[in-house]
Amino acid sequence: MVKKAIFPVGGLGTRFLPATKALPKEMLPVVDKPLIQYAVEEAIHAGIEEFIFVTGRNKTAIEDHFDHSFELESVLFEKGKDDALQLVKDMMRVPGSVAYVRQQEPAGLGHAVWCARHLIGDEPVAVLLADDLVLGAPAIKEMVDAYQGGNMVAVMEVPEQETSAYGIVTPGADNGHEVTINGLVEKPKAGTAPSNLAVIGRYIIEPAVFETLGKQKAGVGGEVQLTDALAAQIGTSPFTGLRFTGKRFDCGSKIGFQKANIAFSLERDDMADELRHWLKTHL
Ligand code: UTP
Repeated sequence: MVKKAIFPVGGLGTRFLPATKALPKEMLPVVDKPLIQYAVEEAIHAGIEEFIFVTGRNKTAIEDHFDHSFELESVLFEKGKDDALQLVKDMMRVPGSVAYVRQQEPAGLGHAVWCARHLIGDEPVAVLLADDLVLGAPAIKEMVDAYQGGNMVAVMEVPEQETSAYGIVTPGADNGHEVTINGLVEKPKAGTAPSNLAVIGRYIIEPAVFETLGKQKAGVGGEVQLTDALAAQIGTSPFTGLRFTGKRFDCGSKIGFQKANIAFSLERDDMADELRHWLKTHL
């Protein structure tokens, strides 16, 4: 059973400057909800009970978001704004189920995950990147439901020319839903990708991965890569890619973020008609 999840939120979000100078990228809202809240809700759907955030400097807004806001709550209460009050309270988790560790330097995703090692016992753990936003079925739930040990990543086909932006797998046996992973390379140079099957930001990793991460071997971009540590485990434990059914948006990029805002708005009864009309008249 997977009961813990790590949310690495220690990155600098340089692609979103100047917005991310003081504001964590993960607090950028899609419609009216911060990216990190979508990720946490996805984990809750999957039955996750313990939430570990790997934060960095300038990220305190994330801690505040998942805590009481006494002044706001008392004003909403006094004004009888029950729905808004409920929204604010809904994001509170059971006391003691949320932990924060600091990644003192943004040395890469693998390094961020490793920073949570003391909070993980001898058990598999989910890792969710909030900037990969999934519309539709919660991807990490699909993964937890299918998980039978070893390491697992969410995978999707990407256009050939975009493979150099992702971790790309060498696929083995493939039943159209789950694919055995025989190799994994982070950000392959153009024209060298072993396939167009890319890893997106949902993982279930077993404890052995933390040992490999502990060697702090720098990969692409001089950063400790989670995918490199997963690749190092191939041959010693099963490695599976799961084709999730939802639609993923890369909210770490400006264009992906705009697409997500439009797609999620079109799902909302209070916005869809007006937005569709506006889009039609403007395109
Ligand atoms: P990105 O590769 O998108 O990096 O990280 P970034 O720094 O956040 O953004 P850019 O590229 O500068 O615009 C993917 C995920 O890994 C986390 C990020 O917070 C994000 O959720 N991460 C990345 C860390 O927690 N620590 C790191 O050192 C790097």
